[in-house]
Amino acid sequence: MRVLVLTGAGVSAESGIPTFRGNDGYWRNLDPTKLATPEAFARDPQLVWDWYRERRQRIRNARPNAAHDAIARLARWTDEFLLVTQNVDDLHARAGVAAEKMVQIHGDIFVTRCTRCEFSYVGRGGSPERPESWATKSKSGRLRSIAPTSDDHVNVRWCPKCDALMRPGVVWFGEQLPWKEVQRVEDFLEGGTCDVVIVAGTTATLGYIIDWALCASRDGAELIEVNPEETPLSRFATRLVREPAAIALPRIVDELIAFG
Ligand code: OAD
Repeated sequence: MRVLVLTGAGVSAESGIPTFRGNDGYWRNLDPTKLATPEAFARDPQLVWDWYRERRQRIRNARPNAAHDAIARLARWTDEFLLVTQNVDDLHARAGVAAEKMVQIHGDIFVTRCTRCEFSYVGRGGSPERPESWATKSKSGRLRSIAPTSDDHVNVRWCPKCDALMRPGVVWFGEQLPWKEVQRVEDFLEGGTCDVVIVAGTTATLGYIIDWALCASRDGAELIEVNPEETPLSRFATRLVREPAAIALPRIVDELIAFG
């Protein structure tokens, strides 16, 4: 069975991670133009880092839920599988979805990368992490980063290679998607039509999510939408499951594996 799964923030909601546009969603209470654009970062990198630090801590304290576990089970069950997630948290990976079967199309919140050169690192421990190799002073003599005594005070980081600002490894509004990841999605779509497409926990606000779901289900595949609410994708779905993902996905995956 060839399966494509597309997920959004709703899948992590039951792990205690806020969505963006839900009642207590991030974009209901915070202004994305102040926190999730390159301009906002240039204007006030400390404000942006403080928000990402808070989000990283919340994700560390969270655990994958039954929806993440069900998707991981499905990924192990069939070789022809791809998960495309808009989520920058690591809950799909922690549930056991292998990296080669997953595309984080909006990046990974635990990646810290240079705004100018290729330097980057991943750190899932304390936030933000500092590679051991970092000296406290850079070439320009600028104070690199005095080891924060606690998580409450986080210095903005400078690249040890080129001295530019370091930023969270996520995609911000107005930025291109990572082309290597887009290529992986397109390669999977070109690799044959799917038997089943599952879209869970997303408002499907971004056009490419709808495009990929429709492209993958173009030859009569089942298109299952799991979302308590209506989305622009609902009218294309062959099956609407208006339930929380942690309730619906274990059942749907059981069925697929039993009758697949
Ligand atoms: P949204 O917050 O836009 O949508 C969350 C969706 O999940 C809504 O449709 C909810 O109805 C649904 N939902 C809530 N709880 C659920 C549950 N327990 N089970 C199933 N569904 C549930 O989040 P996304 O669609 O992921 O991008 O947002 C897409 C992108 O917009 C994000 O990746 C982020 C945001 O701005 C960037 O920052 C680039």
